[in-house]
Amino acid sequence: MKILVSGGAGYIGSHTVIQLVAVGHDVVIVDNFSNSRPTVLGRLEALTGTHLPVHAFDLRDYDKTEHLFASENFDAVIHFAGHKAVGESVEQPLEYYENNLVSTFSLVRAMQRHDVDKLVFSSSATVYGTDQAGATEDRPTSATNPYGWTKVMQEQVLRDIAHAEPRMRFALLRYFNPVGAHLSGTIGEDPSDTPNNLMPFIAQVAVGRREKLSVYGDDYDTPDGTCIRDYIHVEDLAAGHVAALEALGRTDEAVNVWNLGSGRGTSVLEMLHAFERAVGRELPYEIAPRRAGDVASSYADVSKTNRELGWSTQKSIDDMCADTWRWQSQNPQGYSS
Ligand code: NAD
Ligand code: WQD
Repeated sequence: MKILVSGGAGYIGSHTVIQLVAVGHDVVIVDNFSNSRPTVLGRLEALTGTHLPVHAFDLRDYDKTEHLFASENFDAVIHFAGHKAVGESVEQPLEYYENNLVSTFSLVRAMQRHDVDKLVFSSSATVYGTDQAGATEDRPTSATNPYGWTKVMQEQVLRDIAHAEPRMRFALLRYFNPVGAHLSGTIGEDPSDTPNNLMPFIAQVAVGRREKLSVYGDDYDTPDGTCIRDYIHVEDLAAGHVAALEALGRTDEAVNVWNLGSGRGTSVLEMLHAFERAVGRELPYEIAPRRAGDVASSYADVSKTNRELGWSTQKSIDDMCADTWRWQSQNPQGYSS
């Protein structure tokens, strides 16, 4: 298939592009580089051994989006593009609603006009609101911050479109906590600012860019008092997209919701200690107050995904830490190294 990958220069998009090319798809990337760097493209071409056409524009620009669809015959779209920082979304809600919603409107409008009927959409466990432990896909959706609401709203928009046009095939993929990096150590997660997420923060402590990890709360109702999350290796996540795309070719359902997680929970301290094993030394940390908005436990029920996609995660927490460390130690300043 010829696949348009929006946000293909970003963290998850870049890892997915490699796997799409590996199974024989033609990939075209659109990205405005608002949260990624063009440097990643040369690395992707080296890893895939292929030329990757890249269009650098903002998907909110409908004329450019329309022009791209008119000049290429896409079979499917994988839509990663969007802003994703929870805290920033509370500070700048309009920017989040506008960027995330308008880019989706623009893409889906162009899909309709050019008879492209398959879309894989990056949703998130955040749509389970405060009820994220053992979440099954039929759980009611809600959100606790503007970023989360953009995902709930985009899912609703896609459901309504699919209701009106039953020929459409949409995959709403609800990711839990993506971490890790490509085995080569040449691509990985590269936050432009102070990392909000646990894994890149630990990695930056390990490489000496941050003094110590603050563990946000050790008095939760969990075995060691720190929060439990369902971490998924970005390579397993990328494979989930390939599987979802294939499943859209055989399903009779217009809207397909699949959790992408391991189904297992890991605490903050367990993750820190796993990273210490990967690095081979202890890492400095302190116990800090709880972070506003955190839930104690978040992990997926992946039985529907396992059954319907024939997919399950392969990589362990130790793989996630070893691969993140390889990327971070080979690229201490990320893509600016
Ligand atoms: P990322 O920021 O690394 O990648 C997103 C890419 O989209 C970036 O390259 C950015 O430049 C691009 N982009 C943003 N707005 C754009 C626009 N209007 N036009 C064109 N390009 C635009 O993020 P990621 O971690 O790879 O996440 C990908 C998707 O997965 C996002 O939609 C995110 O909300 C979702 N998601 C991520 C996580 C996570 O923890 N990383 C978890 C759940 C869901
Ligand atoms: C994990 C755990 C923190 C940093 C977020 C979004 C979610 C989804 C994935 C997009 C929590 C603790 C963290 C630190 C810490 N993204 N922590 N010290 O909050 O589960 O999910 O990313 O859809 O919507 O909310 O991930 O990595 O930020 O936190 O102790 O410096 O690590 O309190 O318990 P989270 P996270």
